[in-house]
Amino acid sequence: MARTTHHTTPARSGAAGAFTPDSLSVSARHLEVGNEFVASFGVTGYPQEVYPGWLAPLLTYPARLDVSVHVQPVDPATAASGLRKQRAKLESSRRHNSRHDRLDDPELDAAAEDAADLSRRIARGDGRLFRFGLYLTVHAPDETSLAEEVSALRSLCASLLLDAKPATYRALQGWVSTLPLGLDPLGLKRTFDTAAVSAAYPFTSPDLPPTDPTTSAPSGVLYGYNIGSSGLVHWDRFACDNYNSVVLGRSGAGKSYLVKLETLRSLYRALGHDEDGWAADEVQAFVVDPEDEYARLAAQVGGTYVHLGAGGVRLNPFDLPVHTDARGRHTAPQDALKRRSLFLHTVVAVLFGAEITAAERAVLDTAITTTYHRAGITDDPRTWTRPAPLLRDLRDTLTTTGDNSDTVAADLAARLHPFVDGAFADLFDGPTTATPDGHLVVFSLRDLPDELRAIGTLLVLDTVWRRVSNPAYRRPRLVVVDEAGLLMQQPEAARFLFRLAKAARKHWCGLTTATQDAADLLGSDLGKAIVSNAATQVLLRQAPQVIDQICEAFNLSAGERQYLLSADRGQGLLSSGTQRVAFESLASPTENFLITTDPAELARFADDDPDATDHGLAGAYIDLGPADTADSFDVGADAEPAGDGFDDAGQVDLDPA
Ligand SMILES: Nc1ncnc2c1ncn2[C@@H]1O[C@H](COP(=O)(O)OP(=O)(O)OP(=O)(O)O)[C@@H](O)[C@H]1O
Ligand SMILES: [Mg+2]
Repeated sequence: MARTTHHTTPARSGAAGAFTPDSLSVSARHLEVGNEFVASFGVTGYPQEVYPGWLAPLLTYPARLDVSVHVQPVDPATAASGLRKQRAKLESSRRHNSRHDRLDDPELDAAAEDAADLSRRIARGDGRLFRFGLYLTVHAPDETSLAEEVSALRSLCASLLLDAKPATYRALQGWVSTLPLGLDPLGLKRTFDTAAVSAAYPFTSPDLPPTDPTTSAPSGVLYGYNIGSSGLVHWDRFACDNYNSVVLGRSGAGKSYLVKLETLRSLYRALGHDEDGWAADEVQAFVVDPEDEYARLAAQVGGTYVHLGAGGVRLNPFDLPVHTDARGRHTAPQDALKRRSLFLHTVVAVLFGAEITAAERAVLDTAITTTYHRAGITDDPRTWTRPAPLLRDLRDTLTTTGDNSDTVAADLAARLHPFVDGAFADLFDGPTTATPDGHLVVFSLRDLPDELRAIGTLLVLDTVWRRVSNPAYRRPRLVVVDEAGLLMQQPEAARFLFRLAKAARKHWCGLTTATQDAADLLGSDLGKAIVSNAATQVLLRQAPQVIDQICEAFNLSAGERQYLLSADRGQGLLSSGTQRVAFESLASPTENFLITTDPAELARFADDDPDATDHGLAGAYIDLGPADTADSFDVGADAEPAGDGFDDAGQVDLDPA
């Protein structure tokens, strides 16, 4: 080349010198920097529309390529006047065309509309204008390979609808523009609005950021694969602000499948370490299972299966939350009796399926206290280890009061009748049966009559909560409420679930709420509170009827909305705070065997090995036997009576010194 400048910089010692090239020789189309050849481009033409992360193909380009983006805000006054001039030009061309009876020019119309829209947005402060420059520098070891790199880069740019012009005769300025100096001697800038600039932001990735950036090992459990990047989605709910999760999706979207998968995989995990560095605390999971879907899973992993509705399985709502610590001493929260009385109001409201009135509440309150007194349980904590009364005793107390011409009490007694002597008496007909502890405890509600489903769920949650809140046995726990819609229909029960969701974190417990009734959940204040108290939110395929509500509650974009409407079975969005990822749940064949409810698959498994499915189930039905009252207070954590201690209230010692 005719005009070649040759600067030679003597190699300097020291940190600053390390980055200076040994020599720089400038040609018309390229530079020789040290022993490298570089050529630079400025982008002068952009596509009409861009999508988020549209620069990614350039950034992941396999050759050595420097991409530099210069962004300079335009002050709103200048932007407005510039736009006004532009609009005036476009508008006058349009009028000129129409005055001369020419056909209208669609491109001109589109440009005029865009300009008008932009000026409106800028006037409202919805966006701003920026001067945006994009420069590229490609490196090669020699001139021939540089020529190849240049043509490859130009075709890549063409495929992105970018018009990349070589910095001919301005090679040095081009190179300087791509150095991290903030200098733009080429000055090939175009005006962009906020949306277009933000879409160019180069560091977007469809993957979730790692919980611990210092290690590359994934933590948490595997949820499935990432639909955007085909990477894997791991999520550690115990690393979030709270450990709760909600799973929303229409029927058959794969909620139970995902929850079962997560529960199973959580069982493999151990959180925390003891002094010797050994994993100390294995996760324990409790499942409220209205559809009897978790039985096979429980059987195969050695879990416990509690079959409510089968004879001999009883839950007594009157049990006080008496804990037994490792040394066999009994403790209870200071206000255990008072809380239990309040919980019994909830129980009665859920049994009746209606709110109780103020008059009824007053009568009930007195009757509950009297019932406890008759069983020898008073405000003195030392009496709290005595056998708790039963629902039958409360009914009898109410009947006695009713006989003294108290119509409210007589009415309440009559309404309790079906649950004491009538069709639904089995569940309450005796002291709580002891449920064995285990790493997975499944409470199946399917065989409960519909009328008892809600109360069954409530009492199971109460039983579970007694374990979770026992200060003597701390370990990470998961409590799964599948089909929570059932509980949400009753305000008292919903309030109970909400309190549980709020208190769970303090007891190292994560509540999973899965429901297909997204509208019910998001339509009530308590439901919304449960959702907002869940740091992990999973949205699976949604029905068109509720999508607007979901979009509003979770602030979804138009793309996310469309994705949720058309997602396949098992596909959904995992969202936590500002992070969101589209994933598809994925199970190994063995896991699938344990958790699937697909009738066709189940039939195939049964054909292949008739024992595999049925025998497993038979083993899962545990005969719990009639409870021995004395037993249920002495055998430790297994058999503590139920409690409503949501908070870590101070524990009082119940044993006489
Ligand atoms: N990721 C998946 N891979 C393979 N099969 C799946 C997947 N997710 C769900 N399924 C199958 O889809 C069917 C429905 O799933 P699932 O029972 O989890 O639905 P659901 O959302 O809980 O529905 P419902 O609200 O009615 O309980 C089941 O047969 C299950 O085995
Ligand atoms: Mg389900």
